[in-house]
Amino acid sequence: MDTIPPRDTTTGQTWNTEAYAANGRFVATLASSVVALLAPQPGEHILDLGCGDGALTEQLAATGAVLLGVDASSTMISAARQRNLNVEQHDATALPFHQQFDAVFSNAALHWITNQQAVLTGVHRALRSGGRFVAEMGGQGNIAAIRTALQAVLAPYHVDAEATAASFFPSPATYRHLLESVGFTVQSIDLIPRPTPLPNGMDSWLNTFRNGVLDHLNPAARATALAATIALLKPVLCDADGNWTADYVRLRFHATRS
Ligand code: BEZ
Repeated sequence: MDTIPPRDTTTGQTWNTEAYAANGRFVATLASSVVALLAPQPGEHILDLGCGDGALTEQLAATGAVLLGVDASSTMISAARQRNLNVEQHDATALPFHQQFDAVFSNAALHWITNQQAVLTGVHRALRSGGRFVAEMGGQGNIAAIRTALQAVLAPYHVDAEATAASFFPSPATYRHLLESVGFTVQSIDLIPRPTPLPNGMDSWLNTFRNGVLDHLNPAARATALAATIALLKPVLCDADGNWTADYVRLRFHATRS
């Protein structure tokens, strides 16, 4: 019998590991720049915050660094354990670590968290003095066309797509301020447009990454709304050969604990 993945209480999102492997593998494969910025060294103790199914944690561990992955999703933690990784299930806003990591790394996870003060306080506490926090997340303007289309299509159904998704896509200035407010020194912080090909198209992307919004509709309304959203987006995000590209914008930063 299939088990239904638990729903995240803030975003309403569910993480189905098979759908994620099929439609979200690019999240790990497009992370080479933030991994280069982290520059993991053999023997370093590194926390991978929001490790998901562990695809990137596994890559980082292959450098000889000692990795601990954490994620709030039990289904993702189970998938990561199947890779023989050292992982623990924790809410990012309640990290239990004290000055034990040389670095905290995070890719494509921080934008799912609304209580940034809590997560940044926990990351700062987890680092030893001189430790670094290197991460990439959605930044200001991320998936703007997709969000605008969903907002317009779902309004008649009385679903506020932006409020429901509860994503946080800050500008460099906003995030610098948040980092500094908990005691970090920001070494670099950049906003980077990264148009991202969607190998399985927009329908799969919406069903994987916006199920927390679409699940507010009954099945018939959901199918109608999906078709309307895709029709609105097609002229701007789909080429003449039917290839879809999402309008991703990354916020990438390197901050240190003094
Ligand atoms: C992102 O990585 O920017 C992202 C992924 C899924 C939904 C929203 C944002």
